[in-house]
Amino acid sequence: MNTIMTSRAYEAARERARVLLATMTLTEKLGQLSQFGTSIYSDNEQTFDDHFTEGKVGSYLTIKGAQRTNGIQHDLLAATRLPIPALFADDVIHGYRTTFPTPLAQSCSWNPEVARRCSEIAAKEAYRAGLKWTFSPMVDIARDPRWGRIMEGYGEDTYLCSRFSEATVRGYQGEGETVGKDRIFACMKHFAAYGACIGGRDYNTADMSMQTLHDVYLPPFKAGVDAGAATVMSAFEDVNGVPATGNRYLLTDVLRGEMGFKGFVVSDAGAVVELIPHGFAEDEKDAVRLAFGAGCDMIMAGDPYNDRLPSLIEEGKISMEQVDASVLSVLTLKYLCGLMDEPYVDEDGEDCFFCDEHMDAARMAAHETAVLLENNGVLPLRPAAMRGKKIALVGQLAGAEGKSHLLGAWSCLCDPAHTVSIEEGLQNALGDACEIVTVRGCGVTCADTAEAHEKEAESIREAVLAASQCDVIVAVVGEEAGMSGEAYSRSDLTLTGHQGELIDALVATGKAVVLLVSAGRPLILTPYKDKVAALMLIWQPGSSAGSAISDLLTGAVSPSGHLTTTMPVCTGQVPIYYNHTNTGRPALGNWPFESKYRDCQIAPLYPFGYGLSYTSFSFEGIRLSADTMTADGEITVTLTVRNTGDTDGAEVVQLYIRDLVGSTVRPVKELKAFDKVFLAAGESREVTLRLPASELAFHDAAMNRIVEPGKFKLWVGECCTDERYEFGFEIV
Ligand code: NOJ
Repeated sequence: MNTIMTSRAYEAARERARVLLATMTLTEKLGQLSQFGTSIYSDNEQTFDDHFTEGKVGSYLTIKGAQRTNGIQHDLLAATRLPIPALFADDVIHGYRTTFPTPLAQSCSWNPEVARRCSEIAAKEAYRAGLKWTFSPMVDIARDPRWGRIMEGYGEDTYLCSRFSEATVRGYQGEGETVGKDRIFACMKHFAAYGACIGGRDYNTADMSMQTLHDVYLPPFKAGVDAGAATVMSAFEDVNGVPATGNRYLLTDVLRGEMGFKGFVVSDAGAVVELIPHGFAEDEKDAVRLAFGAGCDMIMAGDPYNDRLPSLIEEGKISMEQVDASVLSVLTLKYLCGLMDEPYVDEDGEDCFFCDEHMDAARMAAHETAVLLENNGVLPLRPAAMRGKKIALVGQLAGAEGKSHLLGAWSCLCDPAHTVSIEEGLQNALGDACEIVTVRGCGVTCADTAEAHEKEAESIREAVLAASQCDVIVAVVGEEAGMSGEAYSRSDLTLTGHQGELIDALVATGKAVVLLVSAGRPLILTPYKDKVAALMLIWQPGSSAGSAISDLLTGAVSPSGHLTTTMPVCTGQVPIYYNHTNTGRPALGNWPFESKYRDCQIAPLYPFGYGLSYTSFSFEGIRLSADTMTADGEITVTLTVRNTGDTDGAEVVQLYIRDLVGSTVRPVKELKAFDKVFLAAGESREVTLRLPASELAFHDAAMNRIVEPGKFKLWVGECCTDERYEFGFEIV
């Protein structure tokens, strides 16, 4: 498939870049490899104007708004010898102003089109604010919910994450020949294996076999490269002993060599100089030698490349050819996105922020991303059935105070004022039919003082009193926005503060409790699962949170999200993921000497792929096109999916395989295809899932990527543990 990186426009941009490169001084070249900005971890804006005359600034991050980017661009162009505009970038992760569900939530839609659409709108708003580049998508596989950045990726599965990786790249960059108006460059991060930090502790070492690296962690990057991702960010952590930012094997041999990546690599923030505390580089100069030498083209952020590369070149430690190649990549993208011809952005374009179209898209995305985990029939709360009744809406996250938290971490320039709270959403949907009483109950967290605890206890008593006079209780618990995301690792995934007590007290009223969990990561919900009447994981749904969640609560829309991370029973089970290998002593419950825990079940609370709906589906006439295929062949699985209920809804058809005997041990299940099918009540549709043998390839003990002949099992189901439809096939 043609992408911007293989287009004729790319070749033309490269040609123009080559001509410009020939006119540049070394200082000007190094400037193109240096990114500057606000101190990354504060709002303190710095523009480094003193660098302009010498051409020492190539890119900026974290500068907000069209007026500001135009202003800086103007000053820069007025001062430099060569008119090379700066490339403005930012962390546009799940929306720029209009905020969409977090990427982890988006993955639960099992509909890559959701991610494409959210990214497309995020790109449009970011473009209107003068940005040409986002540090997204994060396609790190995450198997450990202690890691706060699990919210920023697409879950634990390689196949699913790969489909979301390519969809997001297409959403940002478009599918045309160039990255034009309302499009921005994507940056896949963090290369590589950042999600595998030991213990879920951010920035920590990743240590894994080469097979796991190549079969589990790298394919989503390859999918994004194939979709035309223009840039990649190196990761902070060390991978098998070599920090990713100074890792020539990863950044050059694998990314460029094996994957065919043609864009440029930017370091993560400060990651180049962090090679020193890693104990990998002696000093800043050595760190620059190692990072740039490894293939890290641009530094985020600051002067180390400007300052240190000249002497490294003089000493022959870095070649001029390598500098030229990196600068050429940066300039090519500047030409490709039209920046060299039009460095400014129209300052009247920002009126699209929070427009109806964008808010509606956020609402539709959130419809698909919530996962219904339990329902004893209490949901939906249809307006007709609720007439004259009373709902208690409880929790810090339910009312106005919850707005900013429903947006989640990494919400670029989100705005609680443009966010629909759950209270507002429910009032709009049910306010005419019934009375809604909102009470705080308790906070998500609680200061550790006796007074604070007593205040929470009192507030819980008030909530319980109000709730006991209502017909149904909707309680919203979970995490505040800042409790996940970068540097927010947690060692305990149970509900914080007094939230557990609140739930218990509400359940004790004897009223039906609908528990909504808003969080960046999977939390431990074991104590509540069987006590509540319904349980829905709404993640952090974004600007239209309240509208979308009330659509789901009232049955205007049926939930269709499915888990993309295994939900653990307790924190001690993590890392827990469905596609593990079997061990020689799998936990079959036959004797004590099995691979299991003595104080906790081996099975998760909810498996990967799980999610309920208000309707039911049947799979009919499932057939395989053949029960053998060659190593370069393909089989297809065809079935009819029928909505057997009386409510419209969507089913996610999931295809899993198991390679029964391998030259290295193979996972017990692997997702290899899926399709989301929207069906009106009673409607049916034929679905065909493709299984090319190439999807079954893996790296053998000698690191050859092979498709191994042998027998496989295949399941079509509604989640990874659904084995009702089992088949066998063979690779011959
Ligand atoms: C550090 C984060 O790891 C990265 O994902 C982000 O893009 C940069 N900071 C810039 O904010």
